[in-house]
Formats: sequence, C-alpha cells, structure tokens
Amino acid sequence: MTGVTAGRGDPSPLPTLGPVQPLIAPSILSADFARLADAAAAVRGADWLHIDVMDNHFVPNLTLGLPVVKAIRRSTDIPLDCHLMIDDPDRWAVGYAEAGAYNVTVHAEAIVGDPVALAKNLRAAGARAGLSLKPGTPLEPWADVLRHYDTLLVMTVEPGFGGQSFMADMMDKVSAARRLVSAGELTVVIEVDGGIGEDTIAEAAQAGADCFVAGSAVYGAADPQAAVAALRRLAAAAQPSTSHSGITN
Ligand code: DX5
Ligand code: ZN
Repeated sequence: MTGVTAGRGDPSPLPTLGPVQPLIAPSILSADFARLADAAAAVRGADWLHIDVMDNHFVPNLTLGLPVVKAIRRSTDIPLDCHLMIDDPDRWAVGYAEAGAYNVTVHAEAIVGDPVALAKNLRAAGARAGLSLKPGTPLEPWADVLRHYDTLLVMTVEPGFGGQSFMADMMDKVSAARRLVSAGELTVVIEVDGGIGEDTIAEAAQAGADCFVAGSAVYGAADPQAAVAALRRLAAAAQPSTSHSGITN
C-alpha cells in the first residue's frame, strides 16, 4: 500500500496522491451509548471511529460532547473522527483537537468567523481539519477554503439522525470534489455520511468517495467487525482506478 500512514494521533504529513484503500468509519450514533468502549472494541480494524456531536441547536438532536469524547479517546486506539453538528464551531472545535481527535469536522453552515483560521487552529492543535456540507450547501463557494482543509464530509442525509435514506443526488457533489482532487486543486479526503450500507456504498465509491461513515449498517449488524470488512470490500471493488488522494491506515 502506498500513501501516508495516519492514525492514532500520528502527526504525519497531510494526504498525498496515491492509491488508497477505502476508509471505513463506523458511527457510534447507532451504538449503545451506555457501552461506548464496547462499541469501539466491536469494530476493531475500522479505520476511524466516527463520533457525531450534536448540540440540539445546529441540528434538532442532542448526543454527546467533549467529556464523552475524552473518555472514548482513553478507551480505544482507533483514530477518532469527530463530526461537530454544533453552532459556533469557531469556539468549540479546537477543544476536540486538543482532546486527541484525529480529525475534527465542522459544518460550513455553522462557521461564524474565518474558516481558514479555524482550519489552521485545528491543525495547530494536532488534528486534521474537516469541513462538512449539508445536502443543500453547494461545493463551489467552499472550494478555495477547502485548500486549507484535510477532509471534506459530504452529507448524504440531512444531519441529525441515523438510519435515514441515502441521497443519491449528492453524488454530483462527490464527483465534483473528486475532480478537484484529481486536478491537484485540493488534497482532501472525501468522506460521505448518511445512509451508507451494502446497497449504497458502491455508488458512493464510484463517485469518488474515499471514506465511508456507516452507523446503522455497522451497529445494526450481528457482527459489526464483519460488516466493516464487507463494506470495505464493496467500496474497494467499486472505486475507480484513477488515483485517489487519501490517508491510509
Ligand atoms: C447523521 C450523522 C451520521 C449518522 C449516520 O447526522 O452525521 O454520522 O450516524 O447514520 P447511518 O449510517 O445510519 O445513516
Ligand atoms: Zn456524522
């Protein structure tokens, strides 16, 4: 495998161009919140552990925050992929980087101040910087800002809840991002989140996604670890043969 080794808080360089295996990021939103350490252990071999932070303001749901992320960090070696669905990430996001999150993703729609400064602050605190776009948010106005980010999270459902249906019409956004990466204009890992499962992951991989968040498809399975492996196989088989930017674990 080529590419950059990344994980476990390793401050390795930013993504480089090169073949990459698909990254699978189980979302603990669909796990048992009373047993989060067990939920992490149940997906040993996953690339990233996706943690949905919701504040009941940016989205109409409330999940968990920094103290719980710190506790999860102590309980697993899987790199933490924190998806902040919160207002005013300018104020709160760096705390997640300081807590040891591997990647901290903020929503473009929620940023109050300078999105480039926010990315720099996240990186300075030791994390990758991620930018997420809701389904209604176009990519183009954010393309320049994304030069300063490491990951792009394309929402394939309206953020807020697990178990929703995959929005196939978001694949144009994924393809557009992939074109910018292939042209060398961006170096982001392209992540998709929402409705990813065995029936949809190939379509997202074909469109050019590198990293696949899956909640109900992993934690709703009898064997979450096997579900991760099956998703990875399906994505790898569907990925176009063109170079992907990316992080490998
Ligand atoms: C939704 C969250 C997702 C959620 C995905 O707002 O951002 O990460 O856990 O759940 P599934 O995979 O069930 O659609
Ligand atoms: Zn998420």
